[in-house]
Amino acid sequence: MDFGLSGKQVIVTGASGGIGLEVTKMLLAEGAKVTGTYNRSSKPLEDIKRSWSDQFLDVKMDQTSEEDVRKLFEEANRTFGRVDVLVANAGIANHEGVAIQEMSLDQWEKTLKVNLTGTFLCSKYFFSNLQKFSGDTAALILVGSTAGFFGEAWYVDYSTSKSAMHGMMMSLKNEIVHLAPKGRVNLVNPGWTMTPMAEEALTDKDMTKRILQTIPMRKTAVPEDVAGAILYLASDKLAGHVSGQTITVAGGMEGRVLFTPSEIGFLNE
Ligand SMILES: NC(=O)c1ccc[n+]([C@@H]2O[C@H](COP(=O)([O-])OP(=O)(O)OC[C@H]3O[C@@H](n4cnc5c(N)ncnc54)[C@H](OP(=O)(O)O)[C@@H]3O)[C@@H](O)[C@H]2O)c1
Repeated sequence: MDFGLSGKQVIVTGASGGIGLEVTKMLLAEGAKVTGTYNRSSKPLEDIKRSWSDQFLDVKMDQTSEEDVRKLFEEANRTFGRVDVLVANAGIANHEGVAIQEMSLDQWEKTLKVNLTGTFLCSKYFFSNLQKFSGDTAALILVGSTAGFFGEAWYVDYSTSKSAMHGMMMSLKNEIVHLAPKGRVNLVNPGWTMTPMAEEALTDKDMTKRILQTIPMRKTAVPEDVAGAILYLASDKLAGHVSGQTITVAGGMEGRVLFTPSEIGFLNE
């Protein structure tokens, strides 16, 4: 099936991570030109770079730095022209859960800075690029999390940063059309997905038991599951009239198991 992405330029932030890498591969296979970012190491992108040298550019970028983000768009524009689609996927989550009363201001500020301010900066320069290069269509795909919807005890920094993606989408969907009349902004909320970010939790048997109790499909996602939804939203051909929408990719997740039966006192009396 032709997604109509051939020749379009897509920036994928966090292309070196689990979900970003899969999105990048799928986009390249669809004929898109992809500028993919990494923060610390470009190693996960080496094979792609070798196999898709005409269609792929990798750029080192820390999205907490406005200068890095500005340069990313400058390089992408110089290499492949207009950026038609931004997949704002880069993000961090602390591996260890921390109760709010123990959470340092540093941790709170760091998570918000990477996940929220970083996404703001990437969106800002994406929109500047739309102002510079005219065009009818454009797509911004934000990546949130089920944590932004259901909350996540011990990860209030992360869940707060991800719920903010909804507000960002609802505002920017009404701004983008002033730069690209058929521009769209949507949100993908992955649930638990087997990537370096979630590997520790998903290889913990007790944690997996807790997680699967809330998911009718009784499985967690693989990066391809999330990448498929992103590709759909990136495609003007398939999703050309879809804006301001959230696709949750979480196997039908209902919420959170808060206590195991043994943790509910009166059941043990
Ligand atoms: N995996 C899940 O279960 C899950 C669930 C819900 C939502 N999500 C969301 O999905 C997105 C992708 O996550 P993932 O699971 O693929 O995680 P991942 O494998 O850890 O990848 C995260 C990516 O973000 C990049 N990154 C980290 N800090 C950055 C910074 N300051 N500036 C620019 N890039 C930075 C990383 O680059 P380096 O590795 O080079 O630092 C990496 O490429 C994230 O927004 C995450 O919150 C994931």
